[in-house]
Amino acid sequence: MPARRPGRRLAPSLLSADFADLAQAIRAAESGGADALHLDVMDGHFVPNISFGPALVRAVRRRTALPLDIHLMITDPGRYAGAFREAGGDTLVFHVEATADPVATVRELRATGAAVGAAIRPDTPYGAVGPLAASLDQILVMSVHPGFSGQRFLPEVLPKLREARRHLDELGSAADLSIDGGITPETAGAAAAAGATFFVCGNSAFVGGVVAENLARLRAAIDEGGPRALR
Ligand code: DX5
Ligand code: ZN
Repeated sequence: MPARRPGRRLAPSLLSADFADLAQAIRAAESGGADALHLDVMDGHFVPNISFGPALVRAVRRRTALPLDIHLMITDPGRYAGAFREAGGDTLVFHVEATADPVATVRELRATGAAVGAAIRPDTPYGAVGPLAASLDQILVMSVHPGFSGQRFLPEVLPKLREARRHLDELGSAADLSIDGGITPETAGAAAAAGATFFVCGNSAFVGGVVAENLARLRAAIDEGGPRALR
């Protein structure tokens, strides 16, 4: 298994895997050196797509010891946090746009015993999550409009990613700075250069069925921290 990079982690999103053969996808991600698995929960309300719920998280949990990063693209995340934690989620990431009281939501998610992350859509300013930063284990900056995998990376989020990096550094926070959406060997370097530490990869991890090769290419791009030309 390739060596893990301390500090920078790669999390394949199972949304891009073959749902009828998830066990194989999980094994491929593990043997390709994935650091975590990212699970995209969509409710058809907060986002215009429906994916899966706690039952699938539980099934994945039985198959792997990798950390499970649960991206809750759902309305009223606090209501379901316990179920996703109980199913085996290690980190619960909610959207600040999905709740009227993000501080209370952090508290609710934290009460489950999970690590807690907060996500922002591409058009949400960093200021919507910044005040929570000190109480979070992860900030997730979306680089596509949430709902679907395989979309094109939006380079206009890079200044916001840099702003998040600066703020976390100022706070002395070791929280993960996650980038999610359109991460490929062409875009991962720019995200790394902007300060991301946690790279979600859907299509680019599973495309062609050569997961280990795909992850190796992504890691190389992240390590290189380029091309900065993207922005
Ligand atoms: C989009 C999801 C992403 C998506 C990533 O709503 O949050 O995690 O699965 O897929 P790619 O990497 O293909 O954009
Ligand atoms: Zn996601």
